[in-house]
Amino acid sequence: MNDYITNNKDRFLNELLDLLRIPSVSADSKFKDDVRKAASFIKDKLVSAGAEQVEICETGGHPIVYGEKMVNPSAPTVLVYGHYDVQPADPYELWDSPPFEPVIKETELHPDGAIFARGACDDKGQMYMHIKAFEAMMETNTLECNVKFIIEGEEEVGSDNLEDFLRDNKEKLEADIVLVSDTGIIANDVPSITVGLRGLSYVEVEVTGPNRDLHSGLYGGAVPNPINILSEMIASLKDENQRIQILGFYNDVVELTAVERAALARAPFNLEEFKSSIGLSDIEGETGYNSMERTAIRPTLDVNGIWGGYTGEGAKTVIPSKAYAKISMRLVPNQDPDKITKLFEEHFKSIAPKSVSIKVTPHHGGQPAVTPTDSPAYLAAAKAMETTFGKEPVPYRGGGSIPIVALFEQILDSKTVLMGFGLDSDAIHSPNEHYGLFNYYKGIETIPLFFQNYAEMK
Ligand code: BES
Ligand code: MN
Ligand code: MN
Repeated sequence: MNDYITNNKDRFLNELLDLLRIPSVSADSKFKDDVRKAASFIKDKLVSAGAEQVEICETGGHPIVYGEKMVNPSAPTVLVYGHYDVQPADPYELWDSPPFEPVIKETELHPDGAIFARGACDDKGQMYMHIKAFEAMMETNTLECNVKFIIEGEEEVGSDNLEDFLRDNKEKLEADIVLVSDTGIIANDVPSITVGLRGLSYVEVEVTGPNRDLHSGLYGGAVPNPINILSEMIASLKDENQRIQILGFYNDVVELTAVERAALARAPFNLEEFKSSIGLSDIEGETGYNSMERTAIRPTLDVNGIWGGYTGEGAKTVIPSKAYAKISMRLVPNQDPDKITKLFEEHFKSIAPKSVSIKVTPHHGGQPAVTPTDSPAYLAAAKAMETTFGKEPVPYRGGGSIPIVALFEQILDSKTVLMGFGLDSDAIHSPNEHYGLFNYYKGIETIPLFFQNYAEMK
């Protein structure tokens, strides 16, 4: 196995670079054809790796690529999930090299080199490890589990069509476990397995004041300014302890016990490194919780974007008619995104002065998820990582969201193992996203061991 990987190392890399050259941005319809191109790239690679029943499944949006290899009806079945779509690369000018022209550069954390491109880590690089690990198992005749692949093209826009796909193909997708590499490890010398993800509620708000933009001298002082009002409303959403003030917001939050918090604290976290890695001299967050807890087990409310009025060159004296903001709330077990969105809307309307009108538009959301740490699949992943990293991985909770994980459990009745290999510092969703060559090859090496361990343990 390791010989096969070593002998094909360069090709494994070059194929990923080809995939990264396809700008499969799911959010922007301008890239619709490229999204499809990426899907057919994945299809071809699954076929040549030895998968069967490979097809591009049409949905109401971007297609889903399916493939499988059934080796033995009595062997366990692993459903591998990943996504081939990527976040928009904007703002392009902040990239040191063009986002869809991958280059390899050394960094402090990646002395062996890292691939710089949009999607390098999230999730093309991590998803493609699975296709190459599968190829390696096929070529060396070592695949001992049945495997099914669903690689989707809408993860970054909320996986709107995947839910129906799961419902419509329940039997076809039946599996003992779902395996996903779309998360990270704590550091290259601190392997970890994600055992919890946050959920998401995302809304856009619109505040309307006067029926047109007004001269700020003729009218200023006597009329509501939607931007001022929106700012005040947003500021009031948290108190001085950074507790979210929406009535009922915390009602369903599961508080961790002291024992669970102590277990979480076993994952190493260096506050000074955390601060310096993002150029901060100080941090902040909810009183009573440390930084790691604030991202792992506590819900949040953050403005993601805010606009209105005049933002062009120079000064224009104007009171805008409208102001807007996009607001995300990260959720923890057992908060329900639909319920939270409703609470937000009610609260936001209730605090608005009568002089303005409010519109709240919900965007995609997702449920939080926790995964077990005592299942055969978890142990198979932990043992695989222990073999390849030389250290037992630590279970920890990540702050991001993969909404489909909760649906795998609800619809397919399958648990998930989140065996990711990225680093938080890999700049996913940001300019200069990258993925370490160490991480890419470590994943390709570790995945076959997972299959082997799982076949033995299950
Ligand atoms: N792969 C990420 C989520 C992630 C990254 C989880 C690192 C844990 C560690 C995924 O592609 C993502 O970006 N999800 C979105 C949610 C989605 C509904 C747009 C997110 O978390 O913002
Ligand atoms: Mn992802
Ligand atoms: Mn993402």
